[in-house]
Amino acid sequence: MNNFTFQNTTKIIFGKDTEGQVGHELKKHGKRVLLVYGGGSIKKTGLYDKIVKSLNDNDIYHTELYGVVPNPRVSLVREGIKLCRNEKIDFILAVGGGSVIDTAKGIAIGVPYDGDVWDFYDGSVQIETALPIGVVLTIPAAGSEASSSSVLTNEDGWYKLGTGSDLIRPKFAILNPELTYTLPPYQTANGASDIMAHVMERYFTNTKDVDFTDRLCEATLKTVISNVPTAIAEPDNYAARAEIMWAGTIAHNDLLGTGRDQDWASHNIEHELSAIYDVAHGAGLAVIFPAWMKYVYKHNVDRFAQFAVRVFNVDYDFNNPDKTALEGIERLKQFFTSIGLPITLEQLGIEDNRFEEMADKCTNGGKMELGGLVKLNKEDIIEIYKLAKK
Ligand code: NZQ
Ligand code: ZN
Repeated sequence: MNNFTFQNTTKIIFGKDTEGQVGHELKKHGKRVLLVYGGGSIKKTGLYDKIVKSLNDNDIYHTELYGVVPNPRVSLVREGIKLCRNEKIDFILAVGGGSVIDTAKGIAIGVPYDGDVWDFYDGSVQIETALPIGVVLTIPAAGSEASSSSVLTNEDGWYKLGTGSDLIRPKFAILNPELTYTLPPYQTANGASDIMAHVMERYFTNTKDVDFTDRLCEATLKTVISNVPTAIAEPDNYAARAEIMWAGTIAHNDLLGTGRDQDWASHNIEHELSAIYDVAHGAGLAVIFPAWMKYVYKHNVDRFAQFAVRVFNVDYDFNNPDKTALEGIERLKQFFTSIGLPITLEQLGIEDNRFEEMADKCTNGGKMELGGLVKLNKEDIIEIYKLAKK
């Protein structure tokens, strides 16, 4: 096990009706709030009214920024920064999913910074200060409610890049599984794929003696695998929604990665799909992750065989561990298919071959390699896109 420091400061408030606590919780941190939300699901579900009431009841001033789209754009973040400066905002409240939270985080770092906020995302400056953020989560998926990162898309060139710092971990995240009853099956499935990918990016490692975190990862994966079909069949099944929601936060709050090298190639390879084709992140991962696994499994067959046996109950073939590893990948694809996700680029509706361009972008013109388990160069990444084609 590697040395590590672990500190996650996000306060989690979990359970039924907890969104009513938002004003009370928020007034510990701010008085003038920017409320950020997406395309309107929170208005349809009535959540918006509850949030506004709780803010009013606690004498908190608020103004709004709405219209955040999946694969959120930096242009809206720039608008939010201006609004915050004009209105002297001291706290950002995100009500929604990863896209809304990442927009809120972008605004939070942009307000106190003199330059353009994209500087943080292209890596030219580091985060040194940020406005505080709070979250009311409506979709378990990105894990942004307790993560230290934000991912935005720049329409100028269609780059999707992330930035990170402990300074942008939300002060609190309110998680009421009831708020996820209205998720359509496809969004529930996208969320599941993203949650699983966050675990697998940490699970597939060459670090030795990490049995405790291996087991935590496996438990998280098995929880998602067993509860997502239930949540899709019975959208208002509280027990299933609650298991998925808590698993989604744990998958990406850094606990599962303690003491181990991590991979993250699949996420970077997927971000190019979301940037260029505007596909949902979770759906893109369901296509890319199995292709990445097929491409790299021979570098650590034991680990892929362990995944197959412990997560998907595959019988270990002592004469042929490769077969066991491959069966695990097959079962993962079957699971994704069973919950309605695409597993090929064609199923995702991507028929052309912009593989060279995407591989070039995610390796910064071929200058960077991706991945912790295996270092992948631009040519490797093109091969993974080809494997994902059909
Ligand atoms: O915009 P509205 O109308 O609210 O609809 C949203 C949106 O269309 C809808 N939705 C959310 N909650 C709902 C609901 N519909 C009905 N009922 C509800 N309760 O779901 C759609 C997707 O929302 P989005 O926020 O885009 O989903 P998700 O949470 O999957 O976020 C994806 C984004 O997070 C980034 C991804 O790259 C992607 O841009 N990620 C952020 C990470 C981080 N900051 O730590 C890590 C992840 O790896 C990921 O990259
Ligand atoms: Zn993700």
